[in-house]
Amino acid sequence: MGIADRIAREELSALEAQGLLRSLETQTSAPGAEIALPGGERLINFSSNDYLGLAAHPAVGEALSRAAARWGSGASASRLVCGDFVPHHELENALARFESGEAAVLFGSGYAANCGLLPAFVGRDQDVILSDALNHASLVDGCRLSRARVEVYSHCDPEALADSLRRARVSGARRILVATDTVFSMDGDVAPLREIAALCEREGAILAVDEAHATGVLGPRGAGLAAELGLESSVDLRMGTLSKAVGVFGAYVVCSRACRELLVNRARSLVFSTALPPAIAEAALVALALLSGAEGEARRARLRRSIDRLASGMRKLGLSASGATPIFPVVLGAPEEALRAAAMLRAKGLYVRPIRPPTVPAGSSRLRIALSAAHDDEHIDRLLAALREL
Ligand SMILES: Cc1ncc(COP(=O)(O)O)c(C=O)c1O
Repeated sequence: MGIADRIAREELSALEAQGLLRSLETQTSAPGAEIALPGGERLINFSSNDYLGLAAHPAVGEALSRAAARWGSGASASRLVCGDFVPHHELENALARFESGEAAVLFGSGYAANCGLLPAFVGRDQDVILSDALNHASLVDGCRLSRARVEVYSHCDPEALADSLRRARVSGARRILVATDTVFSMDGDVAPLREIAALCEREGAILAVDEAHATGVLGPRGAGLAAELGLESSVDLRMGTLSKAVGVFGAYVVCSRACRELLVNRARSLVFSTALPPAIAEAALVALALLSGAEGEARRARLRRSIDRLASGMRKLGLSASGATPIFPVVLGAPEEALRAAAMLRAKGLYVRPIRPPTVPAGSSRLRIALSAAHDDEHIDRLLAALREL
């Protein structure tokens, strides 16, 4: 066996000893509130980000088939070479309208968007990024790739951010960029965006937000937290994903026309990566129309009822539950505790994946329960009954 194989075995043994080994689990059914695993195991799924239940919506699937027949299966090159197609522009225009922005630009995924976005605006020459302590890994990696000085401020703490902004100014920073998730993926809490935007405006800092878990869920027509708070023009760069509530794949940044042009020129994950297949863009356009129309409203109302039912049930059990978003963490501590709890729920037919470091900080391994509009009251009540036993 080669040297890489030996290293892999050593690393895997170390992960296993710490309770941090992960493995893939293959589903044999389409995404949904109920899923099937090999061997016929059927489970109620509380782990997906398909918040509105659109990932297997027939109209979106049919649009994808039609679009693949028209546009083929792949984009064949980067947008800047020969991978730029009409559906990309139609989707970008629709996304800009959806989020009341001037322009939008597509990326292959949310991870790619964050990795390309930050380095396009800040670099190593006296630039500073201020990043929330619980930002998603893709923002963390975007910070690293930018080579700017990164200062992490306490989670959702505007006072800590104000201190960091002052320090950055005094240190003579050329450009300052503040980066935050709007809904935090593993805690389900919501950033104090009004305060953050006011601080950025006062200090002349760029504000970049990641609305991955807010798109489709919060705000008018599901346009996100910035839209909910009327902060569309105060947030310079709004990243959203097409892979969660929209139920398809890919991501986008809503911004000014000039920012869009800079991203097309400078975002390395756009310049040096094959474009999103145009058929995917066309399917996302159909999903976006559903999400922002009457069907989206009905699904958000259904989701809201489930959130309220679960939050009040959890509080009755003495568990904390903010009910602000469809994401409910049950923090247990050690990785083994999270593994044990997930196995117990699974034995009762409930699929709640354990979340361990490095996805969450050490000592805060947890169950992350995520609700979808596809869940009904019986699903929620079965979960509550199992949590009671847990
Ligand atoms: C907050 C946040 N940002 C970005 C991403 C990455 O998005 P994508 O899955 O489209 O790469 C995720 C999740 O995957 C996320 O939770």
